[in-house]
Amino acid sequence: MEQAFVQRLRAQPRSWLITGAAGFVGSNLVEYLLKLDQNVCGLDNLSTGSMANLEMVRSLVSTEQWQNFRWVQGDIRELETCRQVCQGVDHVLHQAAVGSVPRSIDNPIATHESNISGFLNMLVAARDAGVPSFVYAASSSTYGDHPDLPKIEDRIGRPLSPYAVTKLVNEMYAQVFARCYGFQTIGLRYFNVFGPRQDPNGAYAAVIPRWFTDALESKTITINGDGETSRDFCFVDNVVQANLLAATTTNPAAMDQIFNIAYGQSTTLNQLHELIMDNLKALGRDVRESKPVYQEFRAGDVRHSLADISKAQKLLGYKPEFSVRQGLGRAAAWYAQGVEAPARLPSETLS
Ligand SMILES: NC(=O)c1ccc[n+]([C@@H]2O[C@H](COP(=O)([O-])OP(=O)(O)OC[C@H]3O[C@@H](n4cnc5c(N)ncnc54)[C@H](O)[C@@H]3O)[C@@H](O)[C@H]2O)c1
Repeated sequence: MEQAFVQRLRAQPRSWLITGAAGFVGSNLVEYLLKLDQNVCGLDNLSTGSMANLEMVRSLVSTEQWQNFRWVQGDIRELETCRQVCQGVDHVLHQAAVGSVPRSIDNPIATHESNISGFLNMLVAARDAGVPSFVYAASSSTYGDHPDLPKIEDRIGRPLSPYAVTKLVNEMYAQVFARCYGFQTIGLRYFNVFGPRQDPNGAYAAVIPRWFTDALESKTITINGDGETSRDFCFVDNVVQANLLAATTTNPAAMDQIFNIAYGQSTTLNQLHELIMDNLKALGRDVRESKPVYQEFRAGDVRHSLADISKAQKLLGYKPEFSVRQGLGRAAAWYAQGVEAPARLPSETLS
């Protein structure tokens, strides 16, 4: 992040609401903003997020900075909760959602309720509270079956999962709120974000945290398909940067726009596997040399995904600072430490 930008924010602390604050991206936003001496309210219903993520943030910021954090356990499916947390807020960074394509295929109603009804509640609450800036997490899944590569914001295909439908509907609602009520938003289509505090557990875990923990626990790594499926993996600090730039932009051309947020480089699953192993070995971890096991392709997955990030670069000044390799280095260090020392995390109750 540019120093001048950081100094400007520090000099004039603002009030931020982060929904999904106990989740992976949300807790990274909380950490970064508290370190910039901002006032932050975090809302989460702890469905997939955890207090451990926030406890970890507390251990990484100063006592004074932590005092600027207000924690609200609540649900975006409740309009009244959304109204309460939107009061007096300068910036909403809306991250709360039920993630994962396979989870949405198993339970489309739960995904719909949080991702569409919850999103609509947040729009209504923020609009009525007169919140000046609203940035939300959109998704690369919106490209669906469109074959073009790299992905350009205005060329999308048909959604391939209930999750993708919800993220597309978010964009449609956001645009309609601009047209009908003059309420402006910015949508950030994240592409496969990874980094510290991404949950490695459960049937719906994303590939990077799952592979790191499998490798560290000497379990066989399973690859869906032939391993030549590719993604534009994006380290979470790049996503934090994009959120801060979008929230504070004064460029009128950026308003009511959707932006790809990625690194802009394609990595196959086979390459990813190698990079993860290399990074763990570089940390001196004794990881098993065994070959990964290949299984069926997974329903709802697209074959290749790669972002054109020029729109965000041009209109928001987005400059991803971490390559996939650099980000995996940071993530490796975090997962390696986490597997060894989870008990070291502070465990007091948050207030
Ligand atoms: N991680 C990625 O690769 C990726 C890619 C594209 C888009 N996104 C989007 O980014 C956002 C953050 O994702 P993440 O990876 O941090 O996921 P996450 O599951 O770690 O975080 C989501 C958080 O939202 C909370 N939440 C869910 N439903 C809620 C509700 N009804 N009320 C209040 N809180 C609720 C969960 O408890 C969780 O803490 C989501 O909107 C997701 O769809 C993520």
